[in-house]
Amino acid sequence: MADLQFRTPKGTHDVLPEDQQYMTYIKKAVRHRARQAGYRRTEPPIFENKGIFERGIGLHTDIVEKELFMVSGKHNADEAEKQFALRPEFTAGICRSYIEHGMQQLPQPVELYAIGPCFRYDRPQKGRYRQFHQFDLEVIGLRDPSLDAQLIHVVTKIMSDLKILKRLNLQINNIGSSENRAAYVEALKDYFIGKERNLPEDDQKRLQTNPLRLLDSKEEDTQILLRSAPTLDQYLSDESKHYHETLLEYLDELGIAYTPNAGLVRGLDYYNQTVFEFWDQSTGAQNAVGGGGRYDGLIEQLGGKPTPGVGFAGGLERMIWHMKEAGVKAPNKDHVDVFVAQLGPEAKKRCLALVSQLREFGVHTVGALGEASLKSQMRLADKFEARYTLLLGKMEVKEGTIILRDMRAGKQRQMKYEEAIPEIIASLGKENLDTYVLRDQMESSDD
Ligand code: HAM
Repeated sequence: MADLQFRTPKGTHDVLPEDQQYMTYIKKAVRHRARQAGYRRTEPPIFENKGIFERGIGLHTDIVEKELFMVSGKHNADEAEKQFALRPEFTAGICRSYIEHGMQQLPQPVELYAIGPCFRYDRPQKGRYRQFHQFDLEVIGLRDPSLDAQLIHVVTKIMSDLKILKRLNLQINNIGSSENRAAYVEALKDYFIGKERNLPEDDQKRLQTNPLRLLDSKEEDTQILLRSAPTLDQYLSDESKHYHETLLEYLDELGIAYTPNAGLVRGLDYYNQTVFEFWDQSTGAQNAVGGGGRYDGLIEQLGGKPTPGVGFAGGLERMIWHMKEAGVKAPNKDHVDVFVAQLGPEAKKRCLALVSQLREFGVHTVGALGEASLKSQMRLADKFEARYTLLLGKMEVKEGTIILRDMRAGKQRQMKYEEAIPEIIASLGKENLDTYVLRDQMESSDD
């Protein structure tokens, strides 16, 4: 690689045009399915008071302990420095927004979705970046297994539209109420009394700060010890069990395949009852494409009235990776229909208007408005893979004509200047013109 002075920071990357096509395609699928199901788009700020994430996601989670991207700011020397963090996810910010804007007054549940960049100061590796993109769905205000089932259904529809559902495996678990978990955590701590020294250092710490995280520890020693430890499902209340059974019945009803996984706990503290993840069929827990669950205590935790919620977030980079692996092509709308070549000042002037008119008709047009020779302009037309080239030289200007070259057929003919645009439109076909009309005033933007 060239010895460049400036490169993208570690763990970030440029989303180049080819990947933008995938991004746009995914966003369209998300928007379509979300709208169908009554979700409305929202977006919390990219940075928030860090306390929102500490309280929401949990102080002793990897995301908050190790991965928050801190941003501090103050206007002048006397002012106390404010501590913000770049959003590592959407859920905490959206719940803050729900409280701040009094959304409990709206008909419940409030269904919101968001798409955009998130930031985690993690050690970069394949599928794990410091800036990545999530699409996020949240259903706030009601608690019922049918809402969990419907949310999962919308996600499976999106994955299926993008032709990657078959590559994924839905893992699902119920981690009970906070009381169930508190009782279990006590039992787990008791079990480990006298065994702490056999745990790797990181897991010894986890035992103190967040014992549930031991369950998805990657350490072999921990996993061996856990084999004879009490399990979370032994501590689930009948109500939690019933909730889960009903959810699974609903998933069956909707024809959604899943794998029950009693060890699935997820890395964020706000969950209760349902948790689920979409795993890669081949690699399993590593690099899940998305995950979510129920968070009935989060809004209260952030200072609102007790309000239940359930949600999901998928990682766009990991989805794009799967689409590429599966050979799914995102539609390429960046092609060039017409390349306009010119020679001489008069021709150039005419070309300016011609290029603009063609574009207005919805023809993707590139004009060679530099001073290059006709030959090099034609080479350029080839490189752009233009369907047609329009040639205007001094002679043509004088005669009021123009040359139209079909680049695929390698044939060209001269015609009256006025005939060029109708001819191009007829050859391309009206249905292939890129005339973007706002369907109505309320249509949302494309990004
Ligand atoms: P999460 O499991 O932390 O959940 O992240 C969801 C998805 O975001 C992951 O499955 C992955 O695809 C993607 N992702 C996370 N971190 C990275 C990274 N460093 N690089 C690339 N992709 C990444 C949440 O964020 C929850 N807010 C989901 C949720 C919504 N729960 C309830 N509502």
